[in-house]
Amino acid sequence: MEKSWGGGADMHKPDMSVNIAGIKLRNPVMTASGTFGYGEEFSEYVDLEKIGAYVTKGLSLKPKAGNPTPRIVETPGGMLNAIGLQNVGIDAFVEKKLPFIRSVDTPAIVNFFGNTIDEYAELARRLDELPEVAGMEVNISCPNVKQGGIVFGTDPACAFDVVSACRKATAKPLIVKLSPNVTDVTAMARACVDAGADALSLINTLTGMAIDLQKRRPVLANVTGGLSGPAIKPVALRMVWQVSRVVKVPIIGIGGIMNATDALEFMLAGAMAVQVGTASFINPASAQQVAEGMENWLINNNVADVKNLIGALET
Ligand SMILES: Cc1cc2nc3c(=O)[nH]c(=O)nc-3n(C[C@H](O)[C@H](O)[C@H](O)COP(=O)(O)O)c2cc1C
Repeated sequence: MEKSWGGGADMHKPDMSVNIAGIKLRNPVMTASGTFGYGEEFSEYVDLEKIGAYVTKGLSLKPKAGNPTPRIVETPGGMLNAIGLQNVGIDAFVEKKLPFIRSVDTPAIVNFFGNTIDEYAELARRLDELPEVAGMEVNISCPNVKQGGIVFGTDPACAFDVVSACRKATAKPLIVKLSPNVTDVTAMARACVDAGADALSLINTLTGMAIDLQKRRPVLANVTGGLSGPAIKPVALRMVWQVSRVVKVPIIGIGGIMNATDALEFMLAGAMAVQVGTASFINPASAQQVAEGMENWLINNNVADVKNLIGALET
């Protein structure tokens, strides 16, 4: 028998709004960092005021040129990238990108990263001063150059230290983006929440590689890269579900979301919102279409409020 979701028969428009640590979203669909530029690049293809929020390309203190090419390759059900966190740096961001962000009536969440704890804290402090920034997303999938290159997001103690430093530097909503390249994602999630994270987003890309047989060489100049797209969705769903059972903060589900069905599955698994990444490369209007598709699904299934779906998975 079909389950009832608690809506009334005379339901009109469902409530699609969610609130992530004080950031009010008109619907739960955001774009994922690194796949949507600084927002402006996509504004011709997407009505930014129809999505919940957009997350900008990861920022560092200094501009970064990224890795040598080739740095993107398609793989079965996904893609590998080794862009190397190319970005304009905080100063150019403030000067050239903020004016557009100011003009859009949708929360902008700024993703950032550093090579040391001090760099992370400095970025959090700089971003804290900008009223245009609705919240921050900390990418902890980066090596700590002061500690032999151990990736912050793969060691709970390192993650705790870097998130604590950011927490001290800002009162704005602080979202920590988790790496899936760990044995126990729940230990990482707990460490980040203990350090003061207001919300968690997961997952970042899974480390992978592709090989060119005839050349006997890796396809990517960087040898390894981050796997994204539909291939990672089952891993991402599993991690969102696991994390949702051990923390109380809102979770943003990311990984292979191509359509509304995918997004709704993440919400059942425990996510309050989702991010659309690789799908925007195939169809730049994907995020908007996912939001519209979710609303239609709610109407067709008599769900009055999208929040009724969060963690509603029955196991
Ligand atoms: C080309 C590319 C660039 C990315 N750049 C960043 C980045 O700068 N910071 C970050 O936290 N994640 C970055 N990501 C990871 C995505 O935000 C997202 O977590 C991941 O791709 C999984 O979602 P998807 O399967 O929907 O793409 C990048 C992903 C891609 C494909």
